[in-house]
Amino acid sequence: MSIDALFAAALDVQGRAYAPYSGFKVGAAAQGESGAIYVGCNVENAAYPSGTCAEEGAIAAMVAAGERRITAILVVGQGQTLVTPCGACRQRIREFGAPGTLVHVASRDGVRSTFSLDDLLPSAFGPDNLRT
Ligand code: THU
Repeated sequence: MSIDALFAAALDVQGRAYAPYSGFKVGAAAQGESGAIYVGCNVENAAYPSGTCAEEGAIAAMVAAGERRITAILVVGQGQTLVTPCGACRQRIREFGAPGTLVHVASRDGVRSTFSLDDLLPSAFGPDNLRT
């Protein structure tokens, strides 16, 4: 699956984000092991902490479809500042990713930067820690 397909899917869902409070729309597209792409957008809430991130939605869709591995994820935000996943979403990606899982960060013009999950969340706590 190409980065182009992930970008197109994330850009499309970004348009449906519900972000009336921040005005900052985010779209995410996660690729599962099967090659299928799962999308999510941020969904804000009048009770601000109840809002959810785009990555959260994409990961929930992937799990709901029966997949357990993220092979790559792409996030598209607004403006030119890199919209790297927030701390909580890095941990969410960790749950279903590997240290080498690619996290592509895009503006609406295209992919700006690519990180590995290990770049974004080094020495991460994960499912292995619980296998004692
Ligand atoms: N947001 C995401 O959806 N993903 C990120 O990685 C960063 C932030 C959303 C949350 C909130 O709705 C808006 O962007 C502003 O923080």
